[in-house]
Amino acid sequence: MKKWSASRAPAGRVAYVNGRYLPHGMAGVHIEDRALQLGDGIYEVFNIRNGQPLDEEGHLDRMERSLRELGIAMPMSRTALKLVTREMIARNRMPNGFLYLQVTRGAVKRDHVPPADGPRPTLIMTMRLQDVAGFQQRLAKGIAVSTQPDIRWGRCDIKTVQLLPNLMAKQAAKQAGAFEAWLVDEDGYVTEGASTTAWIVDQDNTLVTRDLSNAILPGITRKVMLEAAREAQLKVAERKFTVAEAKAAKEALLSSATGAAVPVVTIDGETVGDGMPGPLTRRIRELYAARSAAKSG
Ligand code: PDD
Repeated sequence: MKKWSASRAPAGRVAYVNGRYLPHGMAGVHIEDRALQLGDGIYEVFNIRNGQPLDEEGHLDRMERSLRELGIAMPMSRTALKLVTREMIARNRMPNGFLYLQVTRGAVKRDHVPPADGPRPTLIMTMRLQDVAGFQQRLAKGIAVSTQPDIRWGRCDIKTVQLLPNLMAKQAAKQAGAFEAWLVDEDGYVTEGASTTAWIVDQDNTLVTRDLSNAILPGITRKVMLEAAREAQLKVAERKFTVAEAKAAKEALLSSATGAAVPVVTIDGETVGDGMPGPLTRRIRELYAARSAAKSG
């Protein structure tokens, strides 16, 4: 029998589309949906642990912000969204998994300019299992990253469904034998991963990640990791770092809702530190887990 890989992890059986819970294979949106026609939509990814979304308020705050920046209405109240999320977890019987939520501007006759009295936004949710064994292996051995030019647009702070540059970079990284792409701006500084936040531990044992701007997504896992690190009185800096500095760093790591503080052991084939997952990466992962669980519990 063919083994499931992470990317083929089975989808949940139930999807949510605009008020209806449907069998995953039967769920769909209108062909005039603006996300399909124009990429006019946003998304969030939630890590579901023991039936609860981790860092839920942070993800909902960012979702509201993304929608506000694009002038798309909230599809329903925050309270209602939380109820639908719980219902999805229950109906899929997936207390541990990933929940994907997309909001698009809705379905309306194609025109670049969004209609003033916009259509009703489309809300979609799907779930899928986590590849626990694969994830554990990445934590134990660390992962490889490959640097790629950051060819994205000027508003990377909005979590839009337009992910072509990200997936092209990820594809190139995969061809180079790496798990993630680290995107590099025109001045040689790392912006972030194709779907993760990039971090290093510098020579001064300071945990470093790029400062927030339109150049990167404000990662929710990043935010909670920074809070946890500061609370534990670790040295932390929000500043840019170059590829050269990352390659010479003591440790490198990445974070996202799909995994906080995943060790990076090679960059473009060059070993970081001693080529093993580092102690500070592990510590920050434990601090994140404690803080995130306490907030979600
Ligand atoms: N990606 N940067 C980018 C470009 C991302 O796409 C993500 C998340 C992050 C990390 O953000 P957070 O900690 O809030 O997940 C940073 C998700 C997981 C995805 O696209 O699947």
